[in-house]
Amino acid sequence: MARISYVNGRYLAHKHAQVSVEDRGYQFSDAVYEVWSVMGGRLADLDGHLIRLQRSLNALRIDRPMSMAALMVVLNEVVRRNHIQEGMVYLQISRGVAPRDHAFPVNTKPSVVITARSVDRAAADLKAQSGVKIISQPDIRWGRCDIKTVSLLPNVLAKQIARDQGAHEVVFVDRDGFVSEGASTNVYMVDQSGVVKTRTLSANILAGVTRANLLQLASERQIRIEEGAFTLAELKSAREVFITAATSFLMPVICVDGHIIHDGKPGPLSAQLRAIYIEQARLSAGIV
Ligand SMILES: Cc1ncc(COP(=O)(O)O)c(C=O)c1O
Repeated sequence: MARISYVNGRYLAHKHAQVSVEDRGYQFSDAVYEVWSVMGGRLADLDGHLIRLQRSLNALRIDRPMSMAALMVVLNEVVRRNHIQEGMVYLQISRGVAPRDHAFPVNTKPSVVITARSVDRAAADLKAQSGVKIISQPDIRWGRCDIKTVSLLPNVLAKQIARDQGAHEVVFVDRDGFVSEGASTNVYMVDQSGVVKTRTLSANILAGVTRANLLQLASERQIRIEEGAFTLAELKSAREVFITAATSFLMPVICVDGHIIHDGKPGPLSAQLRAIYIEQARLSAGIV
């Protein structure tokens, strides 16, 4: 079946889906993006990602190219045309096409690209049952990691180091020695007294939609949560470690920099929260 992608008003065969070499997303990373999980053919946490998209557009002063309602129609249409049941949708909005000049061009229409693909949830579930290894890397990113821009070079380089070492993800550690987040995830630890800890929101991390939902679900269940800062050493001595993202939900971590977390198995709280999260995400997608 031919893969279909959306580019600036047209649904195209994926191999013909292209933007101009003068697109500012290509020239300057002058673009934002969002990623949704698709569950049962429907977008999960639709609103949370749309709200963050608007925030990212505002931060870069890029005009929204269409109404949110129209955007929703197109996102769903890309899912439908690709017959995605379990998968993900990727949306990118750049400032548009203009002769190369750093400052904003005048009267340029933003470019919109939407792609979708299936995800093997059974494989992800198996991975979650055994847990993943992560490695630490210095956080050399810029001062506005709260904006979901496609400018991801430090993340790309760090992820490659992880891949070279057979690790699933990177945990970034800031200049003061505190854990910020993953290269494409938020990072959590469960301390020895059972408190779930994650970094406070700031300009230095992305406000994960999964993070917000998970903290809400956990607090509704009287699970103790503390937003703050913790060091890499604290992370390594945690009872449990896990990471979250829209595409993988919650993934237990069993090893950080070769150091085994607790007994080297996904912890009970991680497993419980993953199950709760997936149930909530399915509900948000309208699956009962
Ligand atoms: C740097 C970073 N942090 C956190 C996340 C998790 O965000 P979300 O839960 O909204 O997918 C992502 C997801 O892409 C990310 O790139």
